[in-house]
Amino acid sequence: MLKDSFGRIHDYLRISLTDNCNFRCSYCMPVEEMEWMPSSKLMSKDEILKMAEIFVSLGVKKIRLTGGEPLVRKEFPKILAGIAKMPVEQTLTTNGILIHKHIQNLKGACVHSVNVSLDTLNREKFKQLTRRDQFDQVWENILLLLQEGFRVKVNAVALHGFIEEEICDFIRVTEKLPLHVRFIEFMPFAGNHWSSQQVVTATQMLDLAKKEFEIVKLEDKKHDTAKKYQVPGFAGTFAFITTMSAHFCGECNRMRLTADGKIKNCLFGKEELDLLAAMRNGQEVIPLIQQSISRKHQALGGQFSSDYLKADPDKIDNRSMISIGG
Ligand code: GTP
Ligand code: 5AD
Ligand code: SF4
Repeated sequence: MLKDSFGRIHDYLRISLTDNCNFRCSYCMPVEEMEWMPSSKLMSKDEILKMAEIFVSLGVKKIRLTGGEPLVRKEFPKILAGIAKMPVEQTLTTNGILIHKHIQNLKGACVHSVNVSLDTLNREKFKQLTRRDQFDQVWENILLLLQEGFRVKVNAVALHGFIEEEICDFIRVTEKLPLHVRFIEFMPFAGNHWSSQQVVTATQMLDLAKKEFEIVKLEDKKHDTAKKYQVPGFAGTFAFITTMSAHFCGECNRMRLTADGKIKNCLFGKEELDLLAAMRNGQEVIPLIQQSISRKHQALGGQFSSDYLKADPDKIDNRSMISIGG
């Protein structure tokens, strides 16, 4: 069991399969084109499965595959099938564009829930944001996932001047579709030119939603990142991920493994331990994992407080989001 010095048990692992992506969202990756990790530095399929097994032996109950975009990794189907054999719930966060090619793989691996990133319902804005003209395929794939019985959460990053006019449109979509839309407060990462002025808080978004809808608060589960709401009678729900205005670190159960095999004990944690190097050198990996968890900060990697207006992006030392995987 992996318990940190604040008594938090860590049983949820996010594995990034690649830092590469087929979209180019500016809030996620540096505007200057990135240099992708060379494949020799990436964990191989077998190394990923070996790592997953080790974490499962330490009590991990849920593994989420992330990227970059996890579906661009060639060995994705084999990794998915390998983890499916382990006693662990497996999920995925994806930009959705390749889902139609993998729907049978996902079903075969008993994946029940998929999180799809989609920040706008407007084709033109989608193109502007992702620098790809592929809204229709993503939307079709979300509908396909629903049709095939998956639980689907839609992640929409809330950028000031961008999200405000769409909040009610997103909520309206949940009237007929059992979609779970989550508005995410914009977070600072290396190269994403974050500033506090661009953050739209959950309270501000809720106020906008209340102008149009009657809204009820739903119960949240212990480790949820999101605070959930619903319009009574609607098929789906909506929620806010409030990292900037009200962090949820008190109940944190998450660890991250980057595509190059480094453990991060927090989304904002700057200390990384190189599990892959240890594995390749024939050294024990478990003591490094335990060390990483024992060094975890109480909140936000110790890098800033929830008073996001005071956060200084130049002082936040971290990877870019695309190479963490969210
Ligand atoms: P569920 O397991 O479905 O609740 O998903 P999740 O929220 O854990 O993962 P997802 O990949 O869908 O992430 C949605 C948003 O929440 C992203 O912007 C993530 O960066 C953010 N997020 C996920 N995990 C954490 C976390 O541990 N801390 C913080 N601050 N944000 C997180
Ligand atoms: N702030 C908030 N969320 C972000 N994501 C990527 N970059 C940011 C950011 N700067 C979201 C993606 C994806 C999830 C893994 O993280 O949209 O849904
Ligand atoms: Fe956990 Fe760090 Fe996320 Fe807080 S910011 S919930 S401590 S991973």
